[in-house]
Amino acid sequence: MNLAELNRVAEAMVAPGRGILAADESSATIKKRFDAIGAESTDNNRRDYRELLFRSTEAMSKYISGVILYDETIRQNAKDGTPLVKVIERAGSLPGIKVDKGPKPLPFCPNEVITEGLDGLRERLVEYRGLGAKFAKWRAVIDIGAGIPTQTCINTNAHALARYAALCQDEGIVPIVEPEVLMDGDHDIDRCYIATEWTLKRVFEQLYDQRVALEAIVLKPNMVVAGKKCGKRATVEEAAEKTLKVLKACVPAAVPGIAFLSGGQSDEEATAHLDAMNRIGGLPWKLTFSYGRALQAAPQQAWSGKAENVPAGQKAFSHRALMNSLAARGQWKADLEKKAA
Ligand code: 13P
Repeated sequence: MNLAELNRVAEAMVAPGRGILAADESSATIKKRFDAIGAESTDNNRRDYRELLFRSTEAMSKYISGVILYDETIRQNAKDGTPLVKVIERAGSLPGIKVDKGPKPLPFCPNEVITEGLDGLRERLVEYRGLGAKFAKWRAVIDIGAGIPTQTCINTNAHALARYAALCQDEGIVPIVEPEVLMDGDHDIDRCYIATEWTLKRVFEQLYDQRVALEAIVLKPNMVVAGKKCGKRATVEEAAEKTLKVLKACVPAAVPGIAFLSGGQSDEEATAHLDAMNRIGGLPWKLTFSYGRALQAAPQQAWSGKAENVPAGQKAFSHRALMNSLAARGQWKADLEKKAA
């Protein structure tokens, strides 16, 4: 492992005013997204849509530090035959790859899941590195509900995340470490805080036990928010304060940056929360975005599977990328959203 080189990549992923585009939806997930906009999920449509994003040159060169790809996309060529990986690199962004095989039922823990994909991982990392991947992603999923999360679920997922991270670094790839506490339930913000703290404590314990270099990871956590079905909404300020409090309690300063997932927040909520945290400031790590839905919902809607809508899709994507870039600097304002509408 060349730690200096891995640290350089991790720092580039969280460079000031830049964040990550999570475009690594599995075939099943992208089909769901395409169904919602009336587009058919064919190889060519998936290629055309992702090419639309990666050829949004201004957004990619100024605001998007890296793109998380799915296995299909890292092997795909643009319409003119250029590998999509090259399109991303030429725009000045880093290609990355999702390497987990998704959450599966966790034995003896009803309603809980364990992320699989460790078998053969070293060989897949070698191949992905050859295809141009500079970083990888593995997502662990922790749900909140009656009697869950359990210690078993948190510990097994933290262990798997650290095994993945160690393998990545050993093969010269920066791991994005993503423990996601879901916001699907009816729990309040304080329950999210407790589950997030518990999860992050165990994740960093496992990273330490498995000798992972914290200087060469990017953490991708959830924000501390109330569940979607909770009647009591938290304010932007409360979510920002509680998220920073848990991160300060759990994330060592050696970590270069934290790039949040959006997790089902609205586009504007995800931006407002990131902005509020960066306005508070005084933090040992960079705080930025690694959004999937909160960067892509608007361009998907604008594109709707039609070639003539590519410019509209690119405009919508560039707008969200700019808004989140401003939020990563603590310089976003709500009226900038209205101006674009
Ligand atoms: P969302 O921002 O839509 O949560 O996706 C980010 C991601 O990469 C989830 O693994």
